[in-house]
Amino acid sequence: MFNTREIATQILTEIYLKFEFFETAVLLSKNFSRLNQRDKGFVRYLVLNTLRRNGQVDQVLNDYVKIPIKKKNLYILNLLRLSICQILFLDIKDYSIVNTAVEISKNYKVDKFVNGLLRNICRNKYKILQNLDHTTNIPQWIKNDIIQNLGKETLEKISKRVVNEPNLNIKIKANRLKEKNWEKLLNGKFILDDLLKTQNDGLIEKKPYFNEGDWWVQNISSTLPVRFISRIFNNVDKSKISVLDVGAAPGGKTFQLIEENFNVKSLEISQRRTRRLKKNLQRLKFDIEIICEDFLNYECSDLFDCILIDAPCSASGLMQKKPEILIRDKEKNIEKLIDKQQRMLEKSKQFLKIGGYIVYCVCSIHSSEGSHQIESFLQKNRNFKIVKFNNIVSNFGKYLKKGMLTIIPEDFGCNAEADGFFISILKRIK
Ligand SMILES: C[S@@+](CC[C@H](N)C(=O)[O-])C[C@H]1O[C@@H](n2cnc3c(N)ncnc32)[C@H](O)[C@@H]1O
Repeated sequence: MFNTREIATQILTEIYLKFEFFETAVLLSKNFSRLNQRDKGFVRYLVLNTLRRNGQVDQVLNDYVKIPIKKKNLYILNLLRLSICQILFLDIKDYSIVNTAVEISKNYKVDKFVNGLLRNICRNKYKILQNLDHTTNIPQWIKNDIIQNLGKETLEKISKRVVNEPNLNIKIKANRLKEKNWEKLLNGKFILDDLLKTQNDGLIEKKPYFNEGDWWVQNISSTLPVRFISRIFNNVDKSKISVLDVGAAPGGKTFQLIEENFNVKSLEISQRRTRRLKKNLQRLKFDIEIICEDFLNYECSDLFDCILIDAPCSASGLMQKKPEILIRDKEKNIEKLIDKQQRMLEKSKQFLKIGGYIVYCVCSIHSSEGSHQIESFLQKNRNFKIVKFNNIVSNFGKYLKKGMLTIIPEDFGCNAEADGFFISILKRIK
């Protein structure tokens, strides 16, 4: 029988070793599945916070350990990472952290080393905390880009945000809004008319009226593309406006488009994610045509008024929610993603009416996936122009640059805790 900290160490090791997503590592862990709900929550809390603090924790290890442990034992290294994160940043008693780590490390015959090191860190806790820099948690490939394109101050803001537990945003179905006291039921606060902020306790499916299909989870940033589309077609019969939703699963934007009464067709490459999208549609009692196909091979004779491309990306805007991103070396991978985004943008021209719109978005704040992508598309395609957001929604002005919106992960005016996100709207003029 393993204890929670052992299981947390096993999961963290899998994530570091295989660059697994946290949710995948958890699904693959038989030991995790045997835990009760409370212990699962504790393991989640330990692992995700250690990932959020990865740079600061490794800085302490570098300062306090003379021999590189990495080569010695990855499991022990991760046990130490978890323990240091708990000592410095989590509200857990030092003796309990040290005693458990020492017990676990006895199996590896390094208990004396672990004991000495952790006690030394406990003794120097306040001195260590004064010298730690939270920007070290952000990997170099994102950090350099943020400094260059958004400035050092923004890097500071982002790294302060990333170390906190993220909240959950819940989008209430429009026709259910007035029916119930949602703030009370879901223990949250409305941050927009139809969007509520609540704590993420990891028990989404157990919340009231989830199974009845009265709401879905969607961060405020990711609700914006459809809010913008809705403003563009404000004064027209939306059922006559055709929208192709590309990269549609798990479905947040599709649900909003259906709710707004657009004539929607959704396309998704992954069979697994399409199944999830269909399941979500069923739960929400929505019914539309779903195409499971690679958009780059997609052929049809229809022309659309609007194509929404929610492209696959590095997810650098989700560092707080998916802190595994912080320990990945995405530099090699990002080139492939940039190429794919570019091809998706080019492909969408084939299905767009003259006068129609491409709404391009990514949950990334990296300029190569956002503004640079759009600038290079516009250079090649003189028959497109940027639609200025100011004409649509005015209060997002501070995130606008050259008519494109890069939302950094921070509080909106409404205290919303937005995910990092990029949106650009292009109009085909001829
Ligand atoms: C950021 S996610 C989309 C999130 C979704 N729009 C929502 O609001 O819930 C990107 C999606 O694009 C899909 N995708 C990636 N490449 C694709 C392609 N070539 N054709 C269609 N979908 C693709 C991925 O499988 C993934 O589900």
